[in-house]
Amino acid sequence: MWARSSVFFALVLAVQPPAPKVLSRGPVAVYEQACARCHGPNGSFYGPDLGKGKTDPQLYKAVQDMADNQGQIELSSVEVEAQTAYHRAIIKREPFLAITGRTKTELRGEVTARSSVTVTVAGSPQKVRTERFTWIATLTGTGPICVMAKLKNTETRLDPDKASHSHS
Ligand code: HEC
Repeated sequence: MWARSSVFFALVLAVQPPAPKVLSRGPVAVYEQACARCHGPNGSFYGPDLGKGKTDPQLYKAVQDMADNQGQIELSSVEVEAQTAYHRAIIKREPFLAITGRTKTELRGEVTARSSVTVTVAGSPQKVRTERFTWIATLTGTGPICVMAKLKNTETRLDPDKASHSHS
């Protein structure tokens, strides 16, 4: 019985997909660098019609066109997708979360400005420092990691083992 369950657990570990790649350039930093001068800090000049009537692929295309033209910044397809996700969060008025660095003892990322960030490892809260739209968590212990951001009465959760940003 014991032998059989160890084999089972070994198999589960073997098929577990690797954690997703972190984003080396976070979408909020990209936005602040290339888009904010026209669309305002944190998307504040967009107004309530942002993305109205646009399907997901159309929003992706609008972001890509803006990056190539007005924004004058070259983005990879992963970065366009992350920027589109950031825009979905702006549209929904929910806090956005992204992971930009990860080691055994530290997790870093981005969040919508003015949100509060909580990071837990196996349910225990970790030390988090937030500055404008970036945060750094010092990780102790092992276990499932959960990142949470709160803004007014909305909340976003992210499992860094499953995704490198929210609103995919
Ligand atoms: C020089 C000013 C300027 C810059 C810089 C700029 N934009 Fe725009 N953007 C505009 C204008 C003007 C429009 C509206 C007209 C249009 O669609 O071309 C627009 C429209 C958009 C829309 C469509 C809005 C809607 O209602 O659906 C999105 C999304 C967008 N921009 C994203 C971005 C992103 C992302 C960046 C940075 C990579 C960026 N923009 C940089 C001027 C700018």
